[in-house]
Amino acid sequence: MCGSCTLNLTYDEQKAYKLEKIRSKFKEFYGGEIEFFNSNQKHYRTRAEFGLYHENDELSYTMNGKSQKYLKIDQCPKVDIKIANLMPNLLKKLKENQALKHKIFGVEFIATKDEILVILLYHKDILSIEKELLNLKKELEINLIARSRGKKLVFGSDTLRDTLVVDGREFYYQFGDGAFIQPNKMVNEKMISWARGCVSDDKSNELFEMYCGHGNFTIPLSAKFKKVLANEISKSSIKNALKNCELNGVENIKFVRMSSEEIIEAFNGREFVRLKGIDINEYKFSHILVDPPRAGLEKSVMEFMKNYENIIYISCNPDTLRENLTTLCKTHKVVKFALFDQFAHTEHVECGVLLEKQ
Ligand SMILES: C[S@@+](CC[C@H](N)C(=O)[O-])C[C@H]1O[C@@H](n2cnc3c(N)ncnc32)[C@H](O)[C@@H]1O
Repeated sequence: MCGSCTLNLTYDEQKAYKLEKIRSKFKEFYGGEIEFFNSNQKHYRTRAEFGLYHENDELSYTMNGKSQKYLKIDQCPKVDIKIANLMPNLLKKLKENQALKHKIFGVEFIATKDEILVILLYHKDILSIEKELLNLKKELEINLIARSRGKKLVFGSDTLRDTLVVDGREFYYQFGDGAFIQPNKMVNEKMISWARGCVSDDKSNELFEMYCGHGNFTIPLSAKFKKVLANEISKSSIKNALKNCELNGVENIKFVRMSSEEIIEAFNGREFVRLKGIDINEYKFSHILVDPPRAGLEKSVMEFMKNYENIIYISCNPDTLRENLTTLCKTHKVVKFALFDQFAHTEHVECGVLLEKQ
C-alpha cells in the first residue's frame, strides 16, 4: 500500500526486471554486459523523511500511499536499523508532550556509523519550545535540529562524520544536514569502487569532476590522479569537501564553489573572483566525472565534455541520461554500463556509464 516500495517482486525478480528495463532503454547506445550492484534488502537507507499526521489526539508517521494521499505507517523496514529503532521511541516522546506535538508536520533522519541526526519540522515558532527540544535531545541521546519558517535550532551537532570503505581502504567524511548525501551507504561504496575501476593507475592522469558534493567520489578517486579540479554549487558542501581533504590527508584536489555552467564559462574566458589562485588552463584533463541532479546535464556542459577522452557519468535518472547520451554519443561511445540498486523495492535506479572518445 505504501507509495515508496512499489515493486511487489522477489529480489531476484527485481534485479531481472531492472536489468531488462535498462537494457532495452539503452540498447541503441550499448549492447554489452550491464554490471549489477545489489543492495541490502532491508535497513539500507541512511537518510529518510516521513510526514507526521494528526488525527484527534493521535500522531502517526505517514508516507505517500499508492492509491491514497497519506498512508499511516508504524515502521519502515528500509531505513537504517538505528533509525528503525528510534522511530517508535521518538513518536512516543512526541505524543507525550503537547508542546512538542503541537503543529509538528514532518521528520527527517540521517544515520551514520555511530550517530543519528533527527530534524523536526514545525508550523510554529520553535523558539517557544526550545526547553522541551533540549530535553528530547538529552532523553533520546540524539543530535536534534528543529526547523520552522526561517528558523533553525541545533541541539548537539548539525555536522555528521562517517567512514566509507572502498577497495579495502577507509575514507573519512564530514557532511551537513542541508546538502546532498547518497542515501544507500553500501551501494555508494560500490559506486565509488566502480568509478575507481574506470581509471588506470597511470599517475599522469588529471580529473575534472562536476557536481562533486562534499567530495564523495573526489576523495577516493584523487589517489588515481596527478591532480583534480572539482566544482559544486553548494557552499556548505564545498566547505565540507575542503575539510574532507584534511581528514584524508589529500593535497592534489582544488575544490571550487561554482555552478557547472559558470565553470564552463570560465574555461571559455570569463573571469571569476572565486577562481583566484587557480589557473584552470594549466589542467590537461584525461577524465571528466559528472554526477548531476535528476535534470541531467546542460547543453554547455556537454559541449565542453565532448573534447575529452574519458567520461564517467553517474546518473540517478535514466530518462535524462538517455537524452544526454544522444548528444554525448556523437563524439563518444559507451564502453561500460553499471546499474547500482540504490533503491531496492522501488522503480528507481542509479546508472554508471563510462564513455570513451571515438
Ligand atoms: C546527485 S548530487 C551528487 C553529489 C556527489 N557527487 C555525491 O556523490 O555526493 C548532485 C550535486 O550537484 C549539485 N548541483 C546542483 N546543480 C548544480 C549546478 N548547476 N552546478 C554544480 N553543482 C550543482 C548539488 O548541490 C549536488 O551536490
